[in-house]
Amino acid sequence: GDKWILTVTAQTPTNIAVIKYWGKRHEELILPINDSISVTLDPDHLCTTTSVAVSPAFTHDRMWLNGKEVSLSGDRFQNCLRELRSRASDVEDEKKGIKISKKDWEKLRLHIVSFNNFPTAAGLASSAAGLACLVFSLANLMNVKEDHSKLSAIARQGSGSACRSLFGGFAKWIMGKEENGSDSIAVQLADEKHWDDLVIIIAVVSSRQKETSSTSGMRDTVETSMLLQHRAKEVVPKRVKQMEEAIEKRDFPSFARLACADSNQFHAVCLDTLPPIFYMNDTSHKIISCVEKWNRHEGTPQVAYTFDAGPNAVLISHNRKTAALLLQRLLFLFPPQSDTDLDSYVIGDKTILK
Ligand code: PMV
Repeated sequence: GDKWILTVTAQTPTNIAVIKYWGKRHEELILPINDSISVTLDPDHLCTTTSVAVSPAFTHDRMWLNGKEVSLSGDRFQNCLRELRSRASDVEDEKKGIKISKKDWEKLRLHIVSFNNFPTAAGLASSAAGLACLVFSLANLMNVKEDHSKLSAIARQGSGSACRSLFGGFAKWIMGKEENGSDSIAVQLADEKHWDDLVIIIAVVSSRQKETSSTSGMRDTVETSMLLQHRAKEVVPKRVKQMEEAIEKRDFPSFARLACADSNQFHAVCLDTLPPIFYMNDTSHKIISCVEKWNRHEGTPQVAYTFDAGPNAVLISHNRKTAALLLQRLLFLFPPQSDTDLDSYVIGDKTILK
């Protein structure tokens, strides 16, 4: 009968780029103009949880994000769904008496329920966790027999940075050469155990939604910034190699120098865009100054900072002791409840200790 329902739930953490992706060479397939490298956060703190369900009783594909229904009509969702449906296999659940054959997936409709445990679209890479989780949970539901890298190429078509969230630890998104994007995939550089004394703290400067979406921002930068061409051709290829080496050797000073430099260059290409894009604000700049001063005072970098398409600071320290000192400093500079600085600066639950 029509009574059955089959569900799968998955949880996917977000990732933060330490070598940034900014600029597409193909808009629809989401093919980037350079490689990028990220660290995947601890799933306990910043992640998306998605449940997907299939039932013959469903008449349309539908999705709810944080309790509100959202449209699935966008090209990106549709591309992901199409790619997954075309790779689906037979599914059998004997206990429930369910038998879905490969070709049934074309007709069966899906319901998707997704929650972020952090602010959506505030430059905390919510789309990364969201699309990765969507693709991963659907691939499981539909019995798609492909490895994580192949799935990453599907997640990529939902949101570029999502392809890196299919791996824990450190991931690299290889830009690829093929026109159809088949080799634009993510690979794991090191797993989550490789460098487990790193501590990541996120200072939520503002949980408001960003003004310029990454999609339109990137498009403007590609069209108008000369600095971006230089960055993609001359800077990032070398930096990616150096970053891979720093991660492999757990060389924190090199890791920190590269991550900070790359964040700053990303925001420089934003400023070099017409019209200029400002993702960081005064508080972000104050945090950078604080870290730079501290690092200079110590002689070697103790903390790395990186900012995505928003004002929130992602701070990475090389051990828990330094992280504790960093928190102390942040609390001193940006006291909770002061009306100007960090947005209701809540250290406890908005602090990510990895
Ligand atoms: O994948 P998108 O469209 O959300 O773009 C992400 C862009 C940055 O977060 C700024 C950089 C990155 O590599 O994640």
